Amino acid sequence: MKAIYPGTFDPVTNGHLDIIKRCSKKFDKITVLVLNNPSKKHMFTVEERIDLLKDVTKNLENVEVDSFTGLLVDYMRENQVELIIRGLRAVSDFEYEMQMALMNNRLHDDAETFFLIARNQYSYLSSSIVKEVASFNGNITGLVPETVELAIKEKLKGV
Ligand code: PNS
Repeated sequence: MKAIYPGTFDPVTNGHLDIIKRCSKKFDKITVLVLNNPSKKHMFTVEERIDLLKDVTKNLENVEVDSFTGLLVDYMRENQVELIIRGLRAVSDFEYEMQMALMNNRLHDDAETFFLIARNQYSYLSSSIVKEVASFNGNITGLVPETVELAIKEKLKGV
């Protein structure tokens, strides 16, 4: 069975990576999909986010990385995938995730969302909080893969 793990991934964290690894053991093929939202400000370009994702998933044979601008369900139809994977960190995620799952299901009858509960050690982790800590010179080691940590530090040098 094929599944899509969509997100902004600005940038990928160890929490995302854990979900990707766990899914790659349960599904035949996972597409990690970077959704491009041109109206939002990001630290990394789509190409940079893709490169980082490709680097950190290079040892996972059944994981590929792609990007898309538009509705997730349109990408799903074009690529004949019906399963969406999302991670749930806390109850606070639930409302937004339920809204997205129901909307995607309304837009595409056969689209189903599977939720994985984030592991305890990643339940407070988000790309935004990592960027904020890094921007004030806080320690982000262990929260993101090493290449991502270096990439964030490189970005912040230019700020
Ligand atoms: O990592 P994020 O920011 O929580 O991911 C949210 C994302 C990118 C999966 C969501 O915003 C999305 O699916 N965007 C694509 C546009 C779309 O399909 N919107 C309608 C679904 S609610």
